Amino acid sequence: MRDIDEFSITQAVIEANRNGNARLVTIMESLVRHLHEFAREVRLTEDEWFQGIRFLTETGQMCDEKRQEFILLSDTLGLSTLVTALNNRKPQECTEATVFGPFYVEDSPAVNNGDDIANGAHGIPCFVSGSVHGLDGKPVAAAELTVWQCDDDGLYDVQRPDLDHFQGRARLLTDAEGRFNFRSILAVPYPIPHDGPVGRMLEGLGRHPWRPAHLHFKIEAAGYERLITHIFRHDDKYLDSDAVFGVRSTLISNWTPHPPGAAPDGTPMDQPYYTLYQDFVLCPNSAAEAKGITAR
Ligand code: BEZ
Ligand code: FE
Repeated sequence: MRDIDEFSITQAVIEANRNGNARLVTIMESLVRHLHEFAREVRLTEDEWFQGIRFLTETGQMCDEKRQEFILLSDTLGLSTLVTALNNRKPQECTEATVFGPFYVEDSPAVNNGDDIANGAHGIPCFVSGSVHGLDGKPVAAAELTVWQCDDDGLYDVQRPDLDHFQGRARLLTDAEGRFNFRSILAVPYPIPHDGPVGRMLEGLGRHPWRPAHLHFKIEAAGYERLITHIFRHDDKYLDSDAVFGVRSTLISNWTPHPPGAAPDGTPMDQPYYTLYQDFVLCPNSAAEAKGITAR
């Protein structure tokens, strides 16, 4: 293998990779083809190549247990939304999935229906209720919902280094009729972390870092596909310019404002509050394959 030039380099790399693990070879062959084609198409200069190397280096250096700059990069480049779409094809009656985001934590506190999951986080009170069903309309009892959201300042608890307890996140189970309810605070729009290389990239591209207000849900139940999604507020100005391309029309719901008075659980409220009612439809395991749902 000598005298490799701009015309023979792509094939030379593909051949050098040929003997590895089959799936890795497939992925790397496609990646090398597209990467080389990209460099040819934009006629990448050496200076630009080095800027790219510096950008990726800084992206890695920005990562720790609390901050995942590479996921932010994937999110802002639309790769996370693409991978979510490719891996969550399902009958259209099922609740759609959207991006996971970087603020989920494994061990959020288990609570009971009716509890306040804000746990001290500031914000306008919001009472959330709803139900979980299968495609056949039957309620799904004992489905585990994990919920997480930011506070009134647009920050998740994990973004507050001084906080020693969870806020605005919890795990709870649906009852025998598939119903759930909890108290929390109103979700607000917030900017994704933009004090690093991804923020500079957005700025250079004339893009803002904002996400429309949303509440995250992960729903798991035996016999059903795991659902990772958000519910968005219908009145948010960023619905059509989400920095991470995660909005689906079917995931936009009405969050209803109420004057002071009795809350849905009977609590006397001396301040205005909101309610959100949301039904989720889970996809039985393998229902998408059974219906022959494939790529468009
Ligand atoms: C989120 O919704 O938590 C999120 C998603 C992608 C990037 C940053 C935040
Ligand atoms: Fe979020």
